[in-house]
Amino acid sequence: MRLKELEGYLQQVDVFEKPKVDLEQYPTTPHIAAHMLYTIDSTFGDIEGKLVGDLGCGCGVLSIGSCMLGSAMTIGFDVDCDALEVAARNCAEFELQTCELIQVDVEKIALCDRWRKAFDTIIMNPPFGTKNNRGIDLMFLQQAISMSNTAVYSLHKTATREHIKKKASEWGVQLEVLAELRFDLAASYKFHRKKTVDIAVDFVRVDCSNS
Ligand SMILES: C[S@@+](CC[C@H](N)C(=O)[O-])C[C@H]1O[C@@H](n2cnc3c(N)ncnc32)[C@H](O)[C@@H]1O
Repeated sequence: MRLKELEGYLQQVDVFEKPKVDLEQYPTTPHIAAHMLYTIDSTFGDIEGKLVGDLGCGCGVLSIGSCMLGSAMTIGFDVDCDALEVAARNCAEFELQTCELIQVDVEKIALCDRWRKAFDTIIMNPPFGTKNNRGIDLMFLQQAISMSNTAVYSLHKTATREHIKKKASEWGVQLEVLAELRFDLAASYKFHRKKTVDIAVDFVRVDCSNS
């Protein structure tokens, strides 16, 4: 599938009906999602035929794109039942047979040994850890690394780059910044006074093959 075609499909994915501020529910735009997934597949070969996990899958844009690029199976995890309902509807509309959704708090995933190194690839746009959620971005990253036997692909605020690199090195994994993106946070929340809030975000790859 071509990049533009993938982006066109992802534009049809429904997003959060009433985004929850405390869960940092802002969707990945179809443009960013398509570029991320296309790079993961065409540059690194980490989607087609692979078992892929999507942590904090929300309404499923990354999971759906992963299925469209031919993952053997993609499992989306999210704590929020409302988001998962939208994701399930999206999957049904695209008639995807290879997408599963699980309601779970990502923080609790490590308690279940079943997922340890069970996935080839983890993709995610985790909460950035703003407001009352400090550290949640690193918690997601650590859980993702524990679940993947090949690589984790994630988005993190560029402002936290050095801190995240330091943590990755403490955890014994290699983290590479693949691209610096501008993320348009739509004015979905009352505390955003401007119409859009543009923030710099790193698209990173963590090599989990030796961890
Ligand atoms: C930035 S949104 C990304 C949504 C979706 N992956 C996308 O790319 O459009 C973060 C997602 O993480 C979920 N989330 C927040 N805290 C969570 C937790 N502790 N466990 C599981 N999911 C969580 C939210 O419900 C939300 O769907």
